[in-house]
Amino acid sequence: MTAAAKRPSRVLSGMRPTNRLHVGNLVGALDNWVALQSEAECFFTVVDWHALTTDYAAPEGIPDYGREMVLDWVAAGLDPEKCTIFVQSAVPQHAELHLALSMIVPLGWLYRVPTYKEQMQNLEGRDLETYGFLGYPLLQAADIMLYKADMVPVGEDQVAHLELTREIARRFNSLYGDTFPEPEARLTVVPRLPGLDGRKMSKSYGNAIYLTDDLGEASKRIATMVTDPARVRRSDPGEPTKCPVYPFHKVVSSRDEIAWVETGCRTAGIGCLECKALMSRNLAARLKPFQERRAALAARPERVAEILGDGAAKARRIAAGTMDTVRHAMGLA
Ligand code: TRP
Ligand code: SF4
Repeated sequence: MTAAAKRPSRVLSGMRPTNRLHVGNLVGALDNWVALQSEAECFFTVVDWHALTTDYAAPEGIPDYGREMVLDWVAAGLDPEKCTIFVQSAVPQHAELHLALSMIVPLGWLYRVPTYKEQMQNLEGRDLETYGFLGYPLLQAADIMLYKADMVPVGEDQVAHLELTREIARRFNSLYGDTFPEPEARLTVVPRLPGLDGRKMSKSYGNAIYLTDDLGEASKRIATMVTDPARVRRSDPGEPTKCPVYPFHKVVSSRDEIAWVETGCRTAGIGCLECKALMSRNLAARLKPFQERRAALAARPERVAEILGDGAAKARRIAAGTMDTVRHAMGLA
């Protein structure tokens, strides 16, 4: 039996509240989460402690990003009746299990995680020579293990963190007896979207389409997107795989429309403007109902508070059970 065929029973995933979500997050992670909530018992958490590992010197944005993120999640289709939505720091057992696991994780395992050195270079300009930053993947392991999750939907960049989580679960089990399952990663299958300028999508380049962007503005920006540079004139054929518009079609357009783009582009049968206009329309059709649901929830802050309150209460109940076992196993009972 392949890993993909195995039915998960507990799922946990999280997002760092350090950014607004963009279209790639919706069609990637969130659609995946929404599908999973009907398959397994799911926990989705706004990992504010994780945000602090990099943003500790300027944490002002974290609460707002967190609230906005919950609006995005519910507007995307996460149903608080079907899954548990909560803020990590509202469940103190995350910090407690992180400390407990820190006793048994060898430093070498943390130094060896590839994202450690990579992120250190990417986030140049901040002092990340901290214990918290080194311990980032350990905190993630605690998030997952606290709920005994057996499956974790994540992007490819998180695979090493899942591998570490499995190693820590094994180590705990061999030291103190069988307690934790070894969680599997379920990779997000949707391709990465480029920025509108063809560079990597990034907050600092201002080239992303955010889920809350005004749709009229978004369509104007799409009209000015770069395309395959080979299409200088309307009569020049192009190659969709060299054009940043094409990956967007792949996520918002139908199979037939994508075939129309591929053929039309390669034979110069269509112009870039009509190609973009179609993408723009499909994107707007996708985002419009999302934005309406989001606005409706944003108008009810007491409902958001209730979702997070109920979610944290449920998460705390399960987390307390795990911590009882862990404390007992480690001689703290
Ligand atoms: N490290 C993850 C990321 O950057 C976020 C995260 C924190 C997470 N804890 C988690 C993801 C637990 C899955 C499970 O995307
Ligand atoms: Fe890009 Fe579409 Fe123009 Fe081809 S026709 S280059 S896919 S915008």
